[in-house]
Amino acid sequence: MNQEKIGLFISELRKEKNLTQKDLGDLLDITDNSVSKWERGINAPDISQLKRIASIFNITVGELLNGERNFKKRENNNGERILEVKNLSKSFGTSKILNNINFELYSGDVVGLIGPNGCGKTTLMKCILGLYHSDTGKVEIDGNDIRYNLEEALKVVGSVIENPDFYLNISGLKNLKIRMTLFDMKDIGYMNAVIHEVKLDDSIKKKVKTYSLGMKQRLGIANALINKPKLLILDEPTNGLDPIGIKQLRELLINLSRNSNVGILISSHNLPEIENICDRILMLDHGTIVEDFGIEKVKYKNITLEEEFMNKLEGEKNE
Ligand SMILES: Nc1ncnc2c1ncn2[C@@H]1O[C@H](COP(=O)(O)OP(=O)(O)OP(=O)(O)O)[C@@H](O)[C@H]1O
Ligand SMILES: [Mg+2]
Repeated sequence: MNQEKIGLFISELRKEKNLTQKDLGDLLDITDNSVSKWERGINAPDISQLKRIASIFNITVGELLNGERNFKKRENNNGERILEVKNLSKSFGTSKILNNINFELYSGDVVGLIGPNGCGKTTLMKCILGLYHSDTGKVEIDGNDIRYNLEEALKVVGSVIENPDFYLNISGLKNLKIRMTLFDMKDIGYMNAVIHEVKLDDSIKKKVKTYSLGMKQRLGIANALINKPKLLILDEPTNGLDPIGIKQLRELLINLSRNSNVGILISSHNLPEIENICDRILMLDHGTIVEDFGIEKVKYKNITLEEEFMNKLEGEKNE
């Protein structure tokens, strides 16, 4: 038991509720001096006191002992598990790029993957999509292990990774139709709705080589949606989008998650945007998940995701 950590946590909880040390002492039938000693880490509450403190602050004894709230689990998560990544590691030559990655993603969840340049976000997404072989570990998409059933697994996935590849000399529409054929999709009405959704109606018949960066990005998103995916994997999808495009993408992703129950893994350096749309954050640093939390955590702490990011990474550096 880490007395100091518990003490700091009690002090934080007490201040949050605007209680003085004496108020808390009165609630627990002890003196303010005893509370003060806990908060300074000189000694710690016994188990019956821990239980009473936990009930006063509406948290669990486990959270109290850990010195922090557990924001990992989403309440009311009735979604099915659409992605499981277990003990995944990946090296290039002698450099270890991903180090024992573990997480799950449920349908309807929007999970933000954030971390500094080169920390392994794109590599992780490529491993999930079977574009890279991981050294160890397992990736399961909608119950299919990608080692044995990649094709089946990818049927339910849409992705935009780095710069999507298109046939440049044909139109955006023809590119989308090729993808429709690949998935044996015949619903032209759905395809037109997707084109409209990414606001490419006016340029969809033009050759892709005439597209601007943002238009290519929009086509990439349309392309990712064409097979009605259950899981979307988007690597920096806001790159190149103008503010209106970013807003449209935000609304589209929120709509897909809420109304179609699509699970979304999205990486971005635009932390305010990630904070806006994600339910959960995975923070990656040097190939390791250093934080995995529900977005309520930053809201609760009344700080921005950017501040949480800086605190965590600066803290790591100083440790
Ligand atoms: N094909 C490759 N061969 C060798 N090293 C690679 C390869 N792809 C990526 N790396 C290395 O893996 C590390 C992680 O790269 P990755 O592209 O996954 O980072 P990232 O988190 O996506 O960064 P960014 O925010 O800049 O997009 C980097 O050190 C990179 O140099
Ligand atoms: Mg990247």
